[in-house]
Amino acid sequence: MLPAAREHLLTNATADRYLRTVTEGAARVADRIAGTDRPFTGIAPEHLALEVDTVDLDRPLGDASAALDELNDVYLRDAVYFHHPRYLAHLNCPVVIPALLGEAVLSAVNSSLDTWDQSAGGTLIEQRLIDWTAQRIGLGPLADGIFTSGGSQSNLQALLLAREEALAASGLPRAQALPRLRVLASAAGHFSVQKSAKLLGLAPDAVVTVEVDADRRMRPAALDRALESCRRDGSIVMAVVATAGTTDFGSIDPLPEIARRCAAAGVWLHVDAAYGCGLLASRTRRHLLDGIEQADSVTVDYHKSFFQPVSSSALLVRDGRTLRHATYHADYLNPERMVAERIPNQVNKSLQTTRRFDALKLWMTLRIMGADAIGELFDDVVDRAAAAWNLLGEDPRFEVVTRSQLSTVVFRYLPTGPGRVYADAANLHARKALAASGDAVVAGTTVDGRQFLKFTLLNPETTIDDIAAVVELVAEHAGRYVEHAIGPVLACTAS
Ligand SMILES: Cc1ncc(COP(=O)(O)O)c(C=O)c1O
Repeated sequence: MLPAAREHLLTNATADRYLRTVTEGAARVADRIAGTDRPFTGIAPEHLALEVDTVDLDRPLGDASAALDELNDVYLRDAVYFHHPRYLAHLNCPVVIPALLGEAVLSAVNSSLDTWDQSAGGTLIEQRLIDWTAQRIGLGPLADGIFTSGGSQSNLQALLLAREEALAASGLPRAQALPRLRVLASAAGHFSVQKSAKLLGLAPDAVVTVEVDADRRMRPAALDRALESCRRDGSIVMAVVATAGTTDFGSIDPLPEIARRCAAAGVWLHVDAAYGCGLLASRTRRHLLDGIEQADSVTVDYHKSFFQPVSSSALLVRDGRTLRHATYHADYLNPERMVAERIPNQVNKSLQTTRRFDALKLWMTLRIMGADAIGELFDDVVDRAAAAWNLLGEDPRFEVVTRSQLSTVVFRYLPTGPGRVYADAANLHARKALAASGDAVVAGTTVDGRQFLKFTLLNPETTIDDIAAVVELVAEHAGRYVEHAIGPVLACTAS
C-alpha cells in the first residue's frame, strides 16, 4: 500500500491510476464539447463567483470523479467554448486534436526546456520546429529563435534584442542613448508594443505612431516622414514594428516597402505576425506575407492561426547571434563551459527559465495532419470572412470598415434618423445582450472614436448561415435598444 499522498504522484507505481484519471477527465470534456449548444451560458461573474467561492480549498474531495463533478459547476458548464461556430469574438481558435495529444504527453512527462539535462529530445524537437518556421519565413542560414508564452512575450523579446543592438550601434553611453530610443509602429499595431517599451525602460513617448491608410495598413510615406523626423530631432529609431495581421482589422502592413526603408535607414525590422502567421501554411495565400523574409525578427502565434492550444508562440530572428542579449549563465544551470561543450541549453535564448514543452503540440500537429491541412483550415476562415464582409456590406442596416486580408470583420449597426445618436450605445448594448443570452459571442472595438463590433473568425465550422443568424440577432438587439431610447412615437416617424 502506498501512503495516501503518494497515490497521487505519477510514478511507475501509479501509471494505471494516471491513465484512469486522465481518461475520465478527457471523457467529461468530450461529452461537454459534443453537447455544447451555445458558445457561452451568459452567466454573470457575480453569479459564478458564488459557486467558486463556496469551494473549500482546505477540504479536498480525495476523488477525481467528485472533483470533476464540482469542476462542472465552477468551470466546464459556463466556460466560453471556442469550438462553437457562433463564438466569433477574439483571436481564439478551436484546437486540433493532434495538438491535444501533444499537450497530454508534454504535461505528463513534464520536460522543462530550459536545459538539455531537463529535456533531452524536447530541446531538439523545439529546435527543429524553430528551424522549420524560420525556413517557411525565409530568414536565411543564420536564423534561430525560441518558443515563448505568447505574442506579447515574443514582441517584448524582439524589442529587447532591438534595443540592445541599437544601444550598441549608437556608440553613446547607455544612459544617454536610452531616452532617445524610438519604436515606430502603426496605430493598428498591438498594444504589447507599448507595454514592451515601458518594460524596456524607454521614454514614455518612445512609441511613435505611424499613420495608416484607409485599409489600416502602415503608409510607407508616413514611415518616411517619421524616420526623417526622428533623424532631425536626434532620436534613435531602434525598431520599426510592422504587423502582419492587425488584431482588429486583419490588415497586413506593406512589408516589402517597409523592409526597404528599414534596410536603408539601418533600422531593426520586427514583424508581428502573431495573427497572420497561419499564412505560412497556406498554399494559396502565402504571398500575402511577401517581404517578411527581410525582417530581423518575427513573432508567430501558433495558438492563433495554427489552431494550437494556448500557449504556443515563437520569436524568430534573422541572426541567431542577437539572441545573446537574453543570455545569462548561472553556475547551477547553464554554466558558460557548456557552450564550448556544445550542449544545447535553450535557456540561453529565452526570457523564461522553466519552460513548457509547447513545441510538442506543433510537432504532433505536423506529424499527424501536416502543415497543408493547417493552411486549409486558415484559408477556410479567411474565405468566410470575405463572405461575411459581403453580407454585411449589402445590408443597409450596417456599416462595414475595411475588408480584412485575414479573418476579421469590423462593422456596426447604424440606425437612421433620430436614432443615429444612439449608434454607439446600441452596438455596445447588442454585444452585451448577445453574450448574456449566450446565443453568440462577438467582440467590440472603437474605430475613429466610434463603437464598432467585430467578428474574428477562426473556426472553419462557422458557416455563412451562422454569421447571417448572428447579424440578425445584432440587428434585433441594437434596433430594440434604439427604439427604446428614442421612444415609440419617434421610432414610428423614423421608420
Ligand atoms: C497582432 C498581435 N500581436 C500580439 C498579440 C499578443 O499575443 P498574445 O495574446 O499571445 O500575448 C496579439 C493578440 O491578439 C495580436 O493580435
